[in-house]
Amino acid sequence: MRLDQYLDKKRKVIDRALNRYLPASSTPDRLIEAMRYSLLGGGKRLRPILALASCEAVGGNIDTVLPFACAIEMIHTYSLIHDDLPAMDNDELRRGRPTNHVVFGEALAILAGDALLTEAFRIMGEAALASGVRQRRALQVLTEVAGAVGPRGMVGGQAADIAAERCQADLPLVEYIHVRKTGELIRVSVRAGAILGGARPGQLRQLSRYAEFLGLAFQIADDILDEEGSIQTTGKVTGGDRRHNKATFPAVLGLPASKQRAKELLDQALEELSGFNEAAEPLRQIAQLIVARACLA
Ligand code: IPE
Ligand code: IPE
Ligand code: MG
Ligand code: MG
Ligand code: MG
Repeated sequence: MRLDQYLDKKRKVIDRALNRYLPASSTPDRLIEAMRYSLLGGGKRLRPILALASCEAVGGNIDTVLPFACAIEMIHTYSLIHDDLPAMDNDELRRGRPTNHVVFGEALAILAGDALLTEAFRIMGEAALASGVRQRRALQVLTEVAGAVGPRGMVGGQAADIAAERCQADLPLVEYIHVRKTGELIRVSVRAGAILGGARPGQLRQLSRYAEFLGLAFQIADDILDEEGSIQTTGKVTGGDRRHNKATFPAVLGLPASKQRAKELLDQALEELSGFNEAAEPLRQIAQLIVARACLA
């Protein structure tokens, strides 16, 4: 399997579907423009691809997952728009372009985020209504997504991330933040694909643990790239974590130990997939790519 070809193909499927779910308005509409600006302006599409790949890993049909995968990418995009706001990380570059509030102003950026979040739940609700005998699975996924991005998940993690700017974080606190602000959404992306794809209970447990290791490794990699990466490769202004006294792995452990930890998490993630056949190869290679991007640079 060629991972670059796999990712390209899946990205196209997702981008086409996102464009369908959020079409341009026929009359001028700044809110829709602001939503589309961030949603369709690049991005690796990691979370929706993970959802599709985990569905494939259990032999499911990705058509049932696509609306949920798109909803997850909408929620992720909302989180980025709000994360970049002056009151949060105050960033002016995202996905290689000016951030939403720089282009549309703070008020519309806040509302574009709110609207992407609510649209995501409408899309999942409609997909659940249309899912016939599979409705229970769809409702389970919708409910899990809500849990993963709410006060005990992403938003809770973001609140802890902001609060930690004013203290000297230790390793347990950084892990707490990372698991919530980033890990939970990655975990539920993988679970969504597995649940909708009809995973057996044992497969779902293994895929969930794979995603937990991967989710933490992903945020550690993001922290490392904020220190060592470039604008060209990240599409973001790097070095912001240090300027804001962010609770990051490099701040607490240093760069070499952070890279070591990311590699250990990769091994643990791969171990969880050892019982899967070649249908799980994209999941394996995606995990390897995430860690390699940050640790081999
Ligand atoms: C950025 O996520 C936010 C984090 C959780 C670190 P990605 O690195 O997946 O951003 P895009 O979607 O590719 O822009
Ligand atoms: C963001 O973490 C996590 C969420 C958006 C929920 P970061 O603040 O590290 O993400 P980047 O580096 O701005 O993409
Ligand atoms: Mg942040
Ligand atoms: Mg940020
Ligand atoms: Mg970051």
